[in-house]
Amino acid sequence: MSNDGVNKGRRRLLIGATSAVGAVGAVGAAVPFVASWKPSAKAKTAGAPVKVDISKLEPGQQTVVKWRGKPVWIVRRGPDALANLAKLDSKLSDPTSEMPQQPAYVPHTPARAVREDIAVLVGICTHLGCSPTYRPEVAPEDLGADWVGGYYCPCHGSRFDLSGRVMKGSPAPSNLVVPPHAYESENVIIVGIDQEVA
Ligand code: FES
Repeated sequence: MSNDGVNKGRRRLLIGATSAVGAVGAVGAAVPFVASWKPSAKAKTAGAPVKVDISKLEPGQQTVVKWRGKPVWIVRRGPDALANLAKLDSKLSDPTSEMPQQPAYVPHTPARAVREDIAVLVGICTHLGCSPTYRPEVAPEDLGADWVGGYYCPCHGSRFDLSGRVMKGSPAPSNLVVPPHAYESENVIIVGIDQEVA
C-alpha cells in the first residue's frame, strides 16, 4: 500500500473515532445541559413583562415597577411640564436622543415617549448605576432657579429632565434608557414587550 493509501485509511479511522467519542459525549452531556438551560420559575418571573395600570396616575405623579431587577419609572407629565421640556434643548447633551438609549418606535422628540404625557424610563443613572431621585418641582432651592423638574442623581450630581435626557455638565454620558414597552389599552402599559409598529 502506498503512503497515500495508509494516510487515507488512518484519516477514516480517526474520523470514525472522533464521531464515536462525540456521540458518547453528547449523550453524557445532554441531561445536565438541558437541566441547567431550562430557566427556573423564579428566573422566568424575574424576566417576564410587567403590566402596569396607569388609570390613577395624576399629572406630576410617578409610579415605580420592577422589571428584570431594575426600577422602571412611569410618570405622567402635565401640559406645563411638556411645554418646559420643549425649551431645554440648549442645556442637554443629547436633546434628540441620538445615542441608542431607546426603542425605535419611541420618537426623538422632547417628550421622548410613545404617548406624549407618559414617560417610561429605566431608573438607573447612566454614569455608575445609582438610582436618581424624582424631583418634579420647579426651581427648588437646592437645584436652582432654572430647574423645571426632572431627576437628580445623588451619587455624583447628574441631572436629567422629565424625559430622562441628560443635562450638559453631568458625569452621566447618555440619556436614561427607555425600556421596551407597549400599550395594551389606554390605561395599561406592558413593560418588557415591544410596541407593534404599523
Ligand atoms: S451614578 Fe449617577 S451621577 Fe454617578
